[in-house]
Amino acid sequence: MTERVLLVTGASRGIGEATARRAAGAGFRVALVARRQESVAGLAAELGEDRALALGADVADWAAVSGAVEETVRRFGRLDAAFANAGIGMGVSFFGDGGTDPEQWRDMVLTNVYGAALTARATLPALAGSGGHLVLTGSVAGRYIRKGSLYSATKWAVTGMAGAIREEAVGTGVRVTLVQPGVTDTDILDSELRKKPKLEPDDVARAVLYALDQPPTVDVNEIMVRPTGQER
Ligand SMILES: NC(=O)c1ccc[n+]([C@@H]2O[C@H](COP(=O)([O-])OP(=O)(O)OC[C@H]3O[C@@H](n4cnc5c(N)ncnc54)[C@H](OP(=O)(O)O)[C@@H]3O)[C@@H](O)[C@H]2O)c1
Repeated sequence: MTERVLLVTGASRGIGEATARRAAGAGFRVALVARRQESVAGLAAELGEDRALALGADVADWAAVSGAVEETVRRFGRLDAAFANAGIGMGVSFFGDGGTDPEQWRDMVLTNVYGAALTARATLPALAGSGGHLVLTGSVAGRYIRKGSLYSATKWAVTGMAGAIREEAVGTGVRVTLVQPGVTDTDILDSELRKKPKLEPDDVARAVLYALDQPPTVDVNEIMVRPTGQER
């Protein structure tokens, strides 16, 4: 059987790295994307050059992200799945009561929303050709209101985007999955969330692989996975 090819954004650490490792272990060839190629070069070397490709691309840069997809198809000859996972979080107060400077908010909106949209746009033509699968990382924070959280609002946008893409994908053979993790032990967590019950990144990776491992006739549209005991 032809080895399937999966492109992962945000593959340098956390959920993306865990998913890339698990996918490679399951037989996928993987294209690893982070802002700097050096951040994913070590993982690519560890997984093996025949099975992993390290790519530097900012997901909010159309030329870079579409170039990374072209490079993946050139190298591996196909694209079967994409994991639009890159994201950043930061504290925000809409009343100006602490939190980050509004000038910094742009990067979060561009990465989490525009970046996910560009990753979808760059990969879907190839995925349509392979009867492929797009997985997006949303969040439990994209399903419930979080006081003062612009991060949560970006993830609500991803929730809507996944649904919009799924509707457009009807008839193409492309499947679309929104994975909505709860609190997961990665660098994105602030000190308050660190004190709460947490998933391991590999717990989320297993959910992604569950969706990817279904037969072509089965489209798993949403998976919410929380650590036991997480409040909303
Ligand atoms: N951890 C949680 O509790 C949690 C819960 C729900 C959802 N999520 C979501 O899960 C996804 C992965 O986050 P994580 O928790 O694994 O955090 P993480 O460990 O900080 O990983 C974030 C990844 O995104 C990459 N990245 C950030 N901005 C990028 C950009 N503009 N272009 C390309 N890559 C970029 C980072 O790579 P470089 O910095 O090397 O470029 C890194 O690989 C995010 O979408 C996050 O919102 C996380």
